[in-house]
Amino acid sequence: MTDPATPDDAFSLPFTPVGRHGDIPAGEGRTFEVGGRLVAVFFDGESYHAMDDLCPHMGASLGSGPFVDGVVTCPWHAWRFRACDGAWCDNEKLKVAVFEVRRSGDAIEVRVTPAG
Ligand code: FES
Repeated sequence: MTDPATPDDAFSLPFTPVGRHGDIPAGEGRTFEVGGRLVAVFFDGESYHAMDDLCPHMGASLGSGPFVDGVVTCPWHAWRFRACDGAWCDNEKLKVAVFEVRRSGDAIEVRVTPAG
């Protein structure tokens, strides 16, 4: 079954390696440029999560914020976003894009949809 939040053509996009397992400490994120977008990738100690790096408030890098219990806190003004769906914890109508991320051997790979 197709996820209604995922455009059909998203499945034809390739996964792009961005780093190696062990590069991102648990509870932290790192920012990578993929296909012209900045993508924040977080590690919770067991699995990886990926979302748009740009905070919709004033543009801080979410990848440099702490990641706790599936939520990243923006380092500038502490807005919090859920990694599962990109929703702002204070108002779910505001969301940042989230992306598929996987481990392939030691590689961390993300599948990033084009901006816009
Ligand atoms: S820039 Fe992220 S909360 Fe203000």
